[in-house]
This record gives sequence, structure tokens and C-alpha cells, in this order.
Amino acid sequence: MSEGGFVNEAIYDVIFRRRDVRKEFNGEPIDPDVLGRILRAAHSAPSVGMSQPWDFTLVFDRDIRTSFRNHVVSEREIFNLSLPADRKEVFAGVKIEGILESSLGIAVSYNGSRGAPAVLGRHAIDDVGLYSVCLAIENLWLAATAEGIGVGWVSFYREEFLAGLLNMPEGIRPIAWLCVGPVSHFEEVPDLERLGWRARADLSGFVHLDTFDSSVGGDGRLNLQPTAFTSLPSVDEPTSLRKH
Ligand SMILES: Cc1cc2nc3c(=O)[nH]c(=O)nc-3n(C[C@H](O)[C@H](O)[C@H](O)COP(=O)(O)O)c2cc1C
Repeated sequence: MSEGGFVNEAIYDVIFRRRDVRKEFNGEPIDPDVLGRILRAAHSAPSVGMSQPWDFTLVFDRDIRTSFRNHVVSEREIFNLSLPADRKEVFAGVKIEGILESSLGIAVSYNGSRGAPAVLGRHAIDDVGLYSVCLAIENLWLAATAEGIGVGWVSFYREEFLAGLLNMPEGIRPIAWLCVGPVSHFEEVPDLERLGWRARADLSGFVHLDTFDSSVGGDGRLNLQPTAFTSLPSVDEPTSLRKH
């Protein structure tokens, strides 16, 4: 037990089970209570100066979603054209969105004028407003996972296109299109890893001691190996060792 006397391992379960979902959506409607809860979770995120600079546009309309998907398909092709032959081959097998298969889209946007001009904590780093929106998205993603609801982040779009499609006024910046809805199951291993695009690397290469130009090596003050709550797939456990 931690010093505060409180430990809840359920949060680790949710964190490790969260997946970016594309093809597992079953198209069933999402329970309105569940949708409300995951939005409340998003709205409970920390934000710089309590600015709460996010908005959530819920897109159920099929025509709007179809227009967005057509745009995403063309952006996918632009990216595809930039790839060398061997990557093209792998990319061909990677699904990058579930816009029409999901139950709704949630377009998350950034409003930098909320709480302005004196946003406490933003005077030196303007981007902290954007960071706040990303935290709301992660809260939403984890809450959805806890509810058995899939979320897939789509970023193959031009911001001006999405802003125009959803009638966002000047100054509102789209940050994400999230495909959201009930799923058949969550994959244990991320799609990009399973399909050979790119794998999650070992944590030890990402942790530095005292200065950035160091690595943790055999330091005894921390243990980066999976320890408690190990019934779950771990982010630093090689794919080959995971249960399927
Ligand atoms: C900012 C951001 C943008 C992303 N854009 C896309 C996207 O356009 N299409 C897609 O299939 N996945 C997208 N993803 C999902 C990542 O590919 C995914 O998170 C990563 O492969 C790890 O898999 P996991 O989320 O299942 O752990 C995005 C994720 C983030 C955080």
C-alpha cells in the first residue's frame, strides 16, 4: 500500500487495457448514461489556470461522418504516396479509422480564449492550453475503456476541413476526431505493433537520471520491470511474451 493508505489497482487494469480501436466497433448505440459519464470524466481533466479550453462536438449524423471519412481517405492516400515501397506494403494492411463503423464521432476542439487573457500558468508557454485538451481526451479514453467502450483517435485530416465541416467559429481549433462506440472486444496488442508498423519500446530507454544525456542503467532507486498488478499485459513486456 502506498503512503497515502490508498491504492486502487483497477486504474492500472484500465490503463493497460485501453486500445486505439478501429475495426472492433459493432455499431450498437451507446447508452446515454455511459456517454454522459465519459464526457464528465473528460471535463474533470486538469487544465492550465482551470481554463477548461475544450469542447466536445458529438457527431451522430451519417452524412457529416461520411464527408469526414471521404476526406480522411484522401489524406491517407497523401501519406501513402510519401512512403517507400516496403512501408507502403505494411501500411496497406493498417486500418486507420472506424468513422462509420463506430456509433458516433466526438470532435474535440481547443478554445484558447476561454479564461483569457490572464490564464494562470500560460504566460510563458502557449502550448499548455493544448496539453490540457489532450488530458481531457485521455480521461475520456480511459473512462470509455472502463465502460467497455472503444475509442479511436483519427488525425488524418486538415484542421481547416474539419473546422469548416462542423461550423466551428474562427479561433476554435480541432484537436481530435474520436471514433466512439461499443466494441466486440479490445485487442491486447496495439494494431500498429501486431501489423508490423511499429512497436512499443522498452521503458528503460525513455528514463533519464538527473540529466537528459544519461540512462538509468543499473540504478537501484527504481525498478522498471513489471511488479505489482502483473496479471495484465505490461507496456514494457515484449510482444512475444504476451498472452494472445
Ligand atoms: C495524437 C494521436 C493521433 C493518432 N492518430 C491516429 C490516426 O489517425 N489513425 C489511427 O489509426 N490511430 C491513430 N492514433 C492511435 C495510435 O496509432 C495508437 O495510440 C498507437 O498505435 C498505440 O496503440 P494503442 O493506443 O492501442 O496503445 C493516434 C494517437 C494519438 C495519441
